Amino acid sequence: MDSYKLLITGGIPLVGETYVSGGKNTSVAVISATLLCDEPCVLENLPDIEDVHVLIDILTGLGAKVDYQPEAKRMTVDPRNVNTFRVPYRQTQRMRASYYMLGALLGRFGQAEVGYPGGCSIGARPVDQHLKAFRAIGAEVKDRGAKITAKGKMVGGSVVFDRITVGGTINAMLAAARAEGNTTLYNAAREPHVVDLANFLNSMGCRVKGAGTDTIRITGAKKLHGSVYTVIPDQIETGTLMIAAAATRGDVVIRGCIPTHMESLTAKLLEMGVAVSDMDDAIRVRTVRGHRAVNIKTQEYPGFPTDLQQPMSAMLTRASGDSVVIETIFESRFKHLMEMRRMGAQVQILDQTAIIQGVPELYGAPVTATDLRAGAALVIAGLMANGVTEIYEPGYIERGYEHIEEKLRALGADIRREPLEDI
Ligand code: EPZ
Repeated sequence: MDSYKLLITGGIPLVGETYVSGGKNTSVAVISATLLCDEPCVLENLPDIEDVHVLIDILTGLGAKVDYQPEAKRMTVDPRNVNTFRVPYRQTQRMRASYYMLGALLGRFGQAEVGYPGGCSIGARPVDQHLKAFRAIGAEVKDRGAKITAKGKMVGGSVVFDRITVGGTINAMLAAARAEGNTTLYNAAREPHVVDLANFLNSMGCRVKGAGTDTIRITGAKKLHGSVYTVIPDQIETGTLMIAAAATRGDVVIRGCIPTHMESLTAKLLEMGVAVSDMDDAIRVRTVRGHRAVNIKTQEYPGFPTDLQQPMSAMLTRASGDSVVIETIFESRFKHLMEMRRMGAQVQILDQTAIIQGVPELYGAPVTATDLRAGAALVIAGLMANGVTEIYEPGYIERGYEHIEEKLRALGADIRREPLEDI
């Protein structure tokens, strides 16, 4: 239970300029990949978020030397003294992406024993495809319920994923990076952070080709030299800020982003009647009139991202008309909409489909965040609503959004923390 709640007084259009931090989902992959290196690596543009702090604890626990300067967004990792291949359950439970330790330790030592990952309550989130990939590359893998053990010389191989999986693709790249032979991943994920990881691995001397397509070829490298690498901006934070600007009928310029990563969201916002203009490394979002209802179907990149479904569906609660939202990636990612019913949202949910009937206004109410992006969605609903919204369990939001309250306040939002009185 968090010790504070967020209070938002809504109805204020967001106006001004803001910036995007380094990507959460790329950072957790790139930080894990430093374990593969034979020399220290320097990572730039890292976001100062909970998930990065958890990974620092895990790497330090393995014996790596980590020098982290959050204000400089820089981290130096020296993996040369890593002296164990075990990551305890109490650590892996703190973060979903802790499963990348399997691929990184297998890739470096040919051995890994990692507790089962934690993560958001958005679905079952099995790791069968990760284990399938490790076996194809040369590991003997045992799934023992609370932990996974994997052992074997990484010799390379061919992996055909039964379904597109970002984590499975990344974990296979980590395990294959120093394999004796070549590895080909078919039906691979194409997300921007898969490409970012490939670029980082190549900057250390790996040979990864095809990242960003559905077939990735990896030639194992014997030795990896140190690298200074800047991670890409966060695609999902960019999208969350774009939606917040549009949902509050504001006018915001978001700097330090990559507009081409945002195509699917930009197209949907334009369809709603929002004015979106791309610049080199910035996007301006303005509302010029009311928002039309639109239909959303989440898909793997470059389709509409599942991580933006929750923030977008918050905005759709006040669009004119009925919107249909189909969530194809995770089985239970509509909890935020159930919370928004208390704010006046009209929503019917049937399995993976939500039908949102637009209402003229939302009104402030007490709501509870159940996962990271649900928290972001509730913040957007609070910014839209008339009156005061209290968001309980806001700690989820800190996991993936760096300084988000400060960024929103700088755009005019009335958002603050209030300690929870003893209950
Ligand atoms: C990554 O999760 C992201 N997390 C998620 O972001 C994101 O929603 C997801 O990719 C999809 O883009 C990180 O990068 C740390 P998947 P991941 O493997 O890798 C099923 C956020 O809010 N599946 O692509 O766990 C799985 O259950 C988080 O930042 C299997 O069945 O996602 C899901 O239904 C939330 N077997 C679907 O595939 C497997 O072995 C996609 O999962 C692996 C996955």
